Parts: sequence; C-alpha cells; structure tokens
Amino acid sequence: MTQHTDHEYAGHDNKKPSTTESGAPRESDAHSLSVGADGPLLLHDVALVEKLARFDRERVPERSPHAKGSGAFGELEITADVSKYTKADFLQPGKKTPMLARFSTVAGELGSPDSWRDVRGFALKFYTEEGNFDMVGNNTPVFFVRDPMKFPDFIHSQKRTPDSGLRSNNMQWDFWSLSPESAHQVSYLMGPRGLPKSWRHMNGYSSHTYMWVNAEGEKFWVQYHFHTDQGVENMSNEEASKLAGEDGDVHRRDLFDAIERGDYPSWTFSVQIMPYEDAKDYRFNPFDLTKTWSKKDYPLIEVGKFTLNENPSNHFAQIEQAAFSPSNTVPGTGLSPDKMLLGRVFSYPDAQRNRIGTNFNQLPVNAPVTKTNSYDKEGQMQYHHSGNAPVYAPNSYGRSYQDEQGPVDNGWESDGELVRSAYSLHSEDDDFGQAHTLVREVYTEEERQGLIETVVGGLSDGVEEPVLSNAIQYWKNIDEEVGAAIEAKVKG
Ligand code: HEM
Repeated sequence: MTQHTDHEYAGHDNKKPSTTESGAPRESDAHSLSVGADGPLLLHDVALVEKLARFDRERVPERSPHAKGSGAFGELEITADVSKYTKADFLQPGKKTPMLARFSTVAGELGSPDSWRDVRGFALKFYTEEGNFDMVGNNTPVFFVRDPMKFPDFIHSQKRTPDSGLRSNNMQWDFWSLSPESAHQVSYLMGPRGLPKSWRHMNGYSSHTYMWVNAEGEKFWVQYHFHTDQGVENMSNEEASKLAGEDGDVHRRDLFDAIERGDYPSWTFSVQIMPYEDAKDYRFNPFDLTKTWSKKDYPLIEVGKFTLNENPSNHFAQIEQAAFSPSNTVPGTGLSPDKMLLGRVFSYPDAQRNRIGTNFNQLPVNAPVTKTNSYDKEGQMQYHHSGNAPVYAPNSYGRSYQDEQGPVDNGWESDGELVRSAYSLHSEDDDFGQAHTLVREVYTEEERQGLIETVVGGLSDGVEEPVLSNAIQYWKNIDEEVGAAIEAKVKG
C-alpha cells in the first residue's frame, strides 16, 4: 500500500548525482565555495546558502499537546453488520479501508521519554471512499475536564512552569484538586493504565459520544472502543523510570520493530449504541466526557478489526505532518452535544493550519482518496487547484455548488437562553461516583496499592500547602480509605 508514501511525487532519485533544489547539477556536497583554499566564503555559493537556509527551517512546530508519538499504516475490516445503526459506507459488512494510526503521550515534548506516566493518544485516520474519517481518542475512556474553556489550563498545568521551565507536581495537583471533574481520569492515570507496556498493549477509546445515522435517517449515540488483540499489559513505576533513562523511544521502537518483523498488531473494534431518545433521561449526562456508559445498559457490539502492517517510510512526512481531527466525519456519522468535542472540532484544523500550513490537507498523508471540490483556495503551498473554474458560488458557468436547507440528518435539537453553565444534571451526575467505582471495584487490591504509592510519590515531591491538603481531600472524596492511606504516608 503506497498511496500515502509518495516518493516519485517529490522527484527524488537516490542513485543519481545530487542537484540543487531547482534541479541543476550540484558541484559538491562537501565543499563550500571560497576565495582560495583558506579564503572567505561567497554569498553566491547558491548550493551552500540553499543547504543552510533549508536546514534552518527543517523543524515545524511540535504539536501543542501530544508532541511525542509515532504510528503506522494499516487496514480496517468490518466483520459484522451494523447497517441498522449507520449508513457510513466504510462501516458496511466486509468493507476494507486503508488507515493510519498515531500513538502519543500528552504532556511531553518531541524528545521526551515514551515511558513517562501519562494518558496515551490513540489517533486513527480512515481513508474512506466518502472522505477521511478520523477518530482521535485516548487509551482511557474519559477525560480530565468537561468544558473546552478549561483545556488550555489543563495542558499548561501538565507542561512546564514559567520560571524554571521544569514540570511541577504542585502545578498538576493544584489544577486537578481544584477541578473535581478530573477525578475519574486521574484515577485512571494513577492506576496501571498510566504506564502501558507498549502502544501495542493498550486499548483505545473515542471517549466522547458521537452520532451514527442509518439509511432511514434514524439516529443513535455511539461510543467507540478498540481492544488490543495483544492483551492489555502495563509496566511498573520502576521499569518505566529505568526505561526513561535507557531508551526514551521504547514505544516508538517497539511498534516499528514489531511491524518490521511481520508481527502486525491488531485491535478489535466495538461500539456501544444508545438509542437517540435515551440520552434525555439516562442516569447521567451521556455527553459528559468524564463519564463512561455502563456496559450493562449498553453492551459492546463487535464491528470489526484493524491491523497495522506498514511502517512509515518517512517519519516526518507521514507522522509528524499527519493531521488528525475529530472534525473529519463522513455521511452516516456525526458529532454530539459534548462541549469538549465541539471545542475540539475547531481547535485541530486551526492548530494544523498553524503547525503545518494552510494547505496541510493537500499533503499525501492527509489527502482524502476522494477528489475534493471546494471554493476555498490558495494560501501558502497550494498544490492542488481547480484550474480556471469559477472561484465563487453561485455562478452561471457550470461549476456546481450545494445548497441543502432544513434540518441536517446528523443534528440534534437544542433550545434555551445563552448561558455559561455546566451541563444539565441527570439523576446520578456527580464528579466522584465513577472514580470511586474504578478505584474500589475495578482495581485489584494490588493495583489500588500501586495507585496509592504513585500518588504518594507525586505528592511527596514538591507539593506545598494548600495544594497538598486539597489533593488529600480530593482522594478522600474519591475513596475515604484510599485518601486516608495517602494522607498517612504523605504526612507520616
Ligand atoms: C492533539 C486540542 C481534547 C486526543 C491535539 C492538538 C490540539 C488539541 C491543538 C494538536 C493537533 C495538531 O497539532 O495536529 C485539544 C482540545 C481539546 C482536546 C482543544 C479539548 C477541548 C482531547 C481529548 C482527546 C484528545 C478529549 C481524547 C479523547 C488528542 C490526540 C492528539 C491530540 C490523540 C494527537 C493527535 C495526533 O496523533 O496527531 N489536541 N484536544 N484531545 N489530542 Fe486533543
């Protein structure tokens, strides 16, 4: 599969002598032009100037969060029939769709160790015949905040302090303990999933609720799950710290090596489906990203499997310049009233216009396999264009434009005053209930003790009052016994 590994496109032939970028033969790759062997260099040494100027511009800004990661190409195969829930062409029985996956840490910079405790990004791009469909999720089914207004603050608290440029437990625990909605996700992060053994050994989740629409126009709410066929495996704090020193790229290496030796990792793709009307009076708000839906209420339905079987041939072109976004949906799929999701839909393409350039969607790794046809045009690095076709709509010269009016098929009703507010509360909505269930009922005793050790390690390293007391209270709110154990160890 080479549609997104386009060497010929750039006109490179590694067997021929090197050229300047305008294609003329290059005299030397080794020696600059000087006045005599020991003399000064000359501005008209085009080859040297070009080489240095290009080197000066080799880096693009790293992703603001999720900077460190890697990925691979593969294929999604649909093995079940979910046509009664969605008309999306790529989700129909037997369909196979080429794809790209990128896995990442959230807080670390481009060169940071893969084994730092963190949530892991799980970003998938499916090159469907109806346009690109992206599922930009994580290895945990929930998130730290439920309003996009708080996302930059959350990321700031995870990155570095303004003065020392160091990461800070005090800053992290200050944000979390003052944002009780983070309790569920923090309980995941401090537990075993905060340190996956490798990207091949972790699950992926949409985390958000999305929409599916079937051919009859019937709508459903959907959550996506991708369970690793390699089995979930995690590592200990000690192993992770050791690896951070010895092999900062351990996860990048593991995935690349596995694919190189033909040991292709795969994930089973399932969904939870909620009938459209159920959302109104479900036990808790089903669009709240800090909650999971009970599998007893909405059991997993298996849909298919994806397999990663092709390494990138150029990391920069195919992974660093890859642009994933929850805004990439296709007919039969859609968004939901989850405020975080609606905020993300703006943020990703905006970040990518800045990070990669206005025409980032024209790069082979991002371009859909379908032909695009849009009145949006020009900007830096435009490559594909519509020739001399009319550049405005409507026009009398044959170039079509769309003008469907009325309700969209993947929309929902909404009404009310303009407010700044949390979600409307459903009967079981709170910040600590699901976190408590995770810590007390899902984790084993050993995992719970591991969580206590991890939290104590963080709180004993530079966390000052009042943050320390707030953090202890936060854990008591999640689980009285766990909170008391943390307090005894930190203060004892
Ligand atoms: C990357 C914003 C929440 C998963 C990014 C990037 C931005 C961003 C700007 C970098 C994009 C790029 O430069 O290509 C936001 C905002 C959020 C949010 C504003 C909330 C309002 C989330 C959530 C998840 C998530 C809830 C998971 C469920 C990811 C992943 C990446 C990413 C996996 C890396 C994608 C890749 O591999 O290229 N986010 N994010 N983000 N985000 Fe978010």
